[in-house]
Amino acid sequence: MEEQDAPKPTSERHVPVLKDRCINLLAPGFEAARSRGETPVAIDATLGMGGHSEAMLQRFPDLHLVGIDRDEEALALAGERLRPFSARTDLVHAVYDEIEAVLADLGISEVHGILMDLGVSSLQLDERERGFAYSYDAPLDMRMDTSRGQTAADVVNTYSEEDLVRIIRKWGEEKFAGRIANRIVTARTTKPFATTGELVEQIRAVVPAAAAKSGGHPAKRTFQALRIEVNEELDVLERAVPAALAASAMGGRVVVMSYHSLEDKIVKSVFQSRSKSSAPLGFPVELEEHKPEFKTLTKGTEVPTPEEIAENPRAASARLRAVERIKARRTA
Ligand SMILES: C[S@@+](CC[C@H](N)C(=O)[O-])C[C@H]1O[C@@H](n2cnc3c(N)ncnc32)[C@H](O)[C@@H]1O
Repeated sequence: MEEQDAPKPTSERHVPVLKDRCINLLAPGFEAARSRGETPVAIDATLGMGGHSEAMLQRFPDLHLVGIDRDEEALALAGERLRPFSARTDLVHAVYDEIEAVLADLGISEVHGILMDLGVSSLQLDERERGFAYSYDAPLDMRMDTSRGQTAADVVNTYSEEDLVRIIRKWGEEKFAGRIANRIVTARTTKPFATTGELVEQIRAVVPAAAAKSGGHPAKRTFQALRIEVNEELDVLERAVPAALAASAMGGRVVVMSYHSLEDKIVKSVFQSRSKSSAPLGFPVELEEHKPEFKTLTKGTEVPTPEEIAENPRAASARLRAVERIKARRTA
């Protein structure tokens, strides 16, 4: 999400995006588990403040939920919110491409529903000192997991000009990427960047006022690009979507909400390739081994209604896709 609203108390901080639609899409996977006499298990791979998880645990009283987040602050807050359900939850500090290891540690072999609500949370944007927001002066950090990895300051102070152009253009879709990268490289020779304010000041100096008027805050796209780079969001997602599919039981469903076209491209490509027959063209019959493992549940992407966007501006760029496993998993 890219909206940067004024801070609110935690309890009011956010409305889960497409909550009812996500839950309705996941429900038949849990039903399939029950019909086999199994306890339904879900993974919320992006626990955040636990909004979607809380709704799932309320709606399905027999559900066991594994909540994953790479942000320890989010895990602590969600833990508080989900305390009434603690007997049915496992909350784990991990990156979501580690689903296989997380499940192995918990002794769970497969799951019946997986939800991924990608990107940054309202909490992360509101906590000024995390450095995600261009509207507040704070240390230039932007790590979702503050216990490891490079910060946004490391990126702007050490990357070559070419690499800065590449990430700002590609991940920020910023047409002034060349000017911004050049300004960063020049400015850092006098003094390395330490704060968001210093970066915003340099960006403002090179983005034409007219462009800023039509395209929103001049630093918006550069901040998005840096956040994606710092957290290696797209590389992780490329590994995570196949990992989620691999963990899904027969009839299990995977629901993903993206907020950036490059995220959606990755989700679409993996979902499509796993939902089509692998039979060579012109093959007269479809052998079992060529049958698709998944079927798509959404026609293209689903988007929030105007009413939902009015209630929750961060939903505006959400794109939802979902699949269901229709062929048994290959187990080692
Ligand atoms: C948009 S928020 C999720 C909000 C949540 N659905 C709710 O209802 O509160 C995304 C969350 O996913 C986490 N996250 C993003 N990328 C992650 C990754 N690769 N691995 C684990 N967690 C990640 C972020 O730290 C953030 O808390």
